[in-house]
Amino acid sequence: GESTSELISILDELREIFTDAIKSAYPEIPNPPILVAQSSSKFCDYQCNSAMKIAQLLKEKNIKVNPNEVGRKIVANLPAIPNAYISKVEVAGPGFINIFLGKSYAINAMKMILENGIQPPKVPRQRIVVDLSAPNIAKEMHVGHLRSTIIGDSIARLLEFLGHDVLRINHVGDWGTQFGMLIAHLKDIFPNYLNESPPISDLQAFYKESKLRFDSDEAFKKRSYACVVDLQGGDPNSLKAWNMICDVSRKEFQKIYDRLDVKLIERGESFYQDRMKVVVKELEDKGLLEDDEGRKIMWGEPAEGIPLTIVKSDGGFTYDTSDMAALKQRIQEEKADWLVYVVDSGQATHFQTVFSCAKRAKIVNPDKHRVDHVGFGVVLGEDGKKFKTRSGDTVKLSSLLDEGLKRSLDKLVEKGRDQVLTPAELKSAQESIAYGCIRYSDLSYNRINAYTFSFDKMLEDKGNTAVYLLYAYTRIKSIARNCGGDFANNIQKVVAETTIQLEHEKEFKLAKTLIKFPDVIKLIAKDLFLHHLCEFVYEISTAFTEFYDACYCIEKNKEGEIVKINAERVLLCEATSLMLAKCFDILGLKPVHKI
Ligand code: ARG
Repeated sequence: GESTSELISILDELREIFTDAIKSAYPEIPNPPILVAQSSSKFCDYQCNSAMKIAQLLKEKNIKVNPNEVGRKIVANLPAIPNAYISKVEVAGPGFINIFLGKSYAINAMKMILENGIQPPKVPRQRIVVDLSAPNIAKEMHVGHLRSTIIGDSIARLLEFLGHDVLRINHVGDWGTQFGMLIAHLKDIFPNYLNESPPISDLQAFYKESKLRFDSDEAFKKRSYACVVDLQGGDPNSLKAWNMICDVSRKEFQKIYDRLDVKLIERGESFYQDRMKVVVKELEDKGLLEDDEGRKIMWGEPAEGIPLTIVKSDGGFTYDTSDMAALKQRIQEEKADWLVYVVDSGQATHFQTVFSCAKRAKIVNPDKHRVDHVGFGVVLGEDGKKFKTRSGDTVKLSSLLDEGLKRSLDKLVEKGRDQVLTPAELKSAQESIAYGCIRYSDLSYNRINAYTFSFDKMLEDKGNTAVYLLYAYTRIKSIARNCGGDFANNIQKVVAETTIQLEHEKEFKLAKTLIKFPDVIKLIAKDLFLHHLCEFVYEISTAFTEFYDACYCIEKNKEGEIVKINAERVLLCEATSLMLAKCFDILGLKPVHKI
């Protein structure tokens, strides 16, 4: 490979090198298997495991060769080694090719990081819609929506970092028959609703009251149905009442988004009213709808499981209809190349069917569009049961965040930080830890699994936790600053004047860890699993600790004065902190100056 001016994917580079070697060693095998991966062993950095597969393919052609021999033949066809990327290869056992990275690329990469910061790997820019959060009006936003908010926000952050054009949509449940009873109730208890906004402080309770009346009072039920018809017919007073109810929820939701620093635009189910009619007609004209006892349904392909209900027997539309309309709007009006839906795994079948129906209707073209349902597991309490308060109610998100703040402050006080930090510093440390640990612990586990919510666990000082990482970051970040002089004031001057050599094994190991970044990012852009990034961050902090324990960066005398600075090593600290800061940014962790 030629030298580059940006951080590149080592895996891509190695794959290219091995593709060339394998093709020239075995021209008789079309599309040979290229299996290059990070090594899980301590003995080497990367591995190529193609030899066994190739020996097998040859065997099928009645050519008997030993896989070890195949491995050696591949190696014989590699470009001259050592080169920029590879310092050494060896063929082990049944044909594993162990790859040892070369220093020159790692040295170059450290310089690039220090000079240009952490730049994203280059990918073609796409228009992407991320559907996240999506709570329901008049109902409490629950921990499931919190997961969707956190995971969706980080996915959007990562895609934005890659340079994509990302639209974050909050598909709130703001439409449907439940609004009939809410409006009817509002009209009854606040007859003056047209002139002053109703003092609803607890929309939950309001919902419960109207539901109670709906279930017990026939006349009220009738009026509720009439309100739905009025609302859907566009009656201005009903629309006004509806808007007032939505506003109460909207304000509550926004407080949560502000606290977590999540940006999104609200475009709820109601937005698609007219578009639903259009998409229903389109599906009908294309002959894709089937009659099922008065309902109009649509099957995915294959026609198994549960079909979508596109039109109810009373002529009304459903959640399914709004998702078909939304998908069409996103592809055709927003011109999206890629749709991401961050919604709990309980809705996996719904989304598979929606995607499949959209393909049948030729709204989605699989060659042009990518669609993903990013599912996640339920939230459990420490007792292993569904996450609830002691009294069995759903946990209010605002109280959950409040408790996080309280626990984080307790933690800081326990460490005596309240004695050291100013009130303002203490507050920002408190918020950074509280929101950081809620976000990080959600992201650090494989999202598919059920997730056990535990403040005790997420606030631990050791292990892969936000608290540990925030402290580690602050410490690393202060190293260059503590050197004073150009290190604190003009680090670029130091960068220009220092030769990086990575002579010590632990220096090299730290650099080899940092340069995995483009591969980690590319992997997540493919599978949308953010725990890879958390694992990477933790791997960095481990490699850093090993480096820092073994390599003096600054030597001090008995008086604590600096007597010697190893500039290269301080720069490695700086590169590490730049990398951590970038990862934190994607994960939504806010590093603080003092903690
Ligand atoms: N409001 C829905 C719920 O709480 C989630 C909506 C997700 N997005 C979508 N396009 N269906 O279950």
